[in-house]
Amino acid sequence: MTLGIGVIGTGMIGRDHARRIEKTLTGGRIVAVNDVVPGAAADAIKELGLGATDHISPEDLIAAPEVDAVLVTSSAPTHEALVLQAIAAGKPVFCEKPLATSVAGAQRIVGAELAAGRRLVQVGFMRRFDSGYRALKRVVESELGAPLMVHAAHRNVAAGPGFSNEMAIYETAIHEIDVLRWLLNEEYVSAQIILPCMTSNAKKGDMDPQIVLLETASGVRIDIEVFANCVYGYDIQCEVVGELGLARLPEPEAVPMRKAGQFSRPILQDWKERFIRAYDIELQYFIDTVRRGEAGGPSSWDGYVASVVADACVEAQKQPGKVVDIAIRQRPALYS
Ligand code: NAI
Repeated sequence: MTLGIGVIGTGMIGRDHARRIEKTLTGGRIVAVNDVVPGAAADAIKELGLGATDHISPEDLIAAPEVDAVLVTSSAPTHEALVLQAIAAGKPVFCEKPLATSVAGAQRIVGAELAAGRRLVQVGFMRRFDSGYRALKRVVESELGAPLMVHAAHRNVAAGPGFSNEMAIYETAIHEIDVLRWLLNEEYVSAQIILPCMTSNAKKGDMDPQIVLLETASGVRIDIEVFANCVYGYDIQCEVVGELGLARLPEPEAVPMRKAGQFSRPILQDWKERFIRAYDIELQYFIDTVRRGEAGGPSSWDGYVASVVADACVEAQKQPGKVVDIAIRQRPALYS
């Protein structure tokens, strides 16, 4: 059967996901949309040529019998309530990151799934589906011996509107926070923020760049450079140093060129391009697992851990140099 999907939030990523479900992926169809801004859902239906109903409210959409699964792509503060409603209705839900905007909120979602006795939520941590990170994970697990250090960087051309120091963690470093614990198969125990010289391209008061230092339970040291105004491109780097060697995240595919005495490769400018295949694969995975009556991928537990670690990083920003402990609860069997 084709999975009937309802999309809540028809902004940038909501439309992008709706388009890929309709035009690129298989096994799913957008049957319902909702947006809090009057006319926005109708606009999306028109723009994407969807055969979907414009629902008056998220509640109405979640309850609709033709909606087999829900996509939550609305603004971050709305995620918790919408995911809880989908769980209460017994409907699988793909929620864009963050799962919730507080640790308590993420815990409530984990609690709801535990009470339901089954996993219904997949969180949009798409880097786990990126072929480069997957290849790197295979090498880390089979070739390098014990991992010792990770050097990572998350660089954007220029900070978006409304950028804040907290956003550098909750919106930006959150991807490294998730993907590196997946890569290493370990939890973090502490966080620290180190501030180098600030770029004159950042607005006054912004910590840019900043270095997030994380330590894992076994003592692996991770440094993540978060640089919102690096100017030259959208650049994601990751290097794992192990006992026997080191491995790097592959560069995105690009045509190398020799011309006018130069050897060059273009660097991506737009973040949307960098993980475009990973977005496809994560949503195809969601559709396929739901159709099989299963659940998988990044879970609410992963969303909860990301919240705990992000909170610790934001706490560490208040006093750069200070080490902040990270306390993660015991992982319930449902998420093992
Ligand atoms: P956006 O602002 O373009 O779109 C959000 C949409 O949600 C807007 O149309 C807004 O009217 C609607 N909305 C807000 N409250 C609502 C409610 N209560 N009910 C229904 N609709 C509501 O934002 P964008 O960039 O699409 O981001 C949405 C979420 O996706 C954010 O949490 C963001 O962090 C996440 N995201 C994740 C990415 C990733 O790499 N995994 C990339 C981009 C966004």
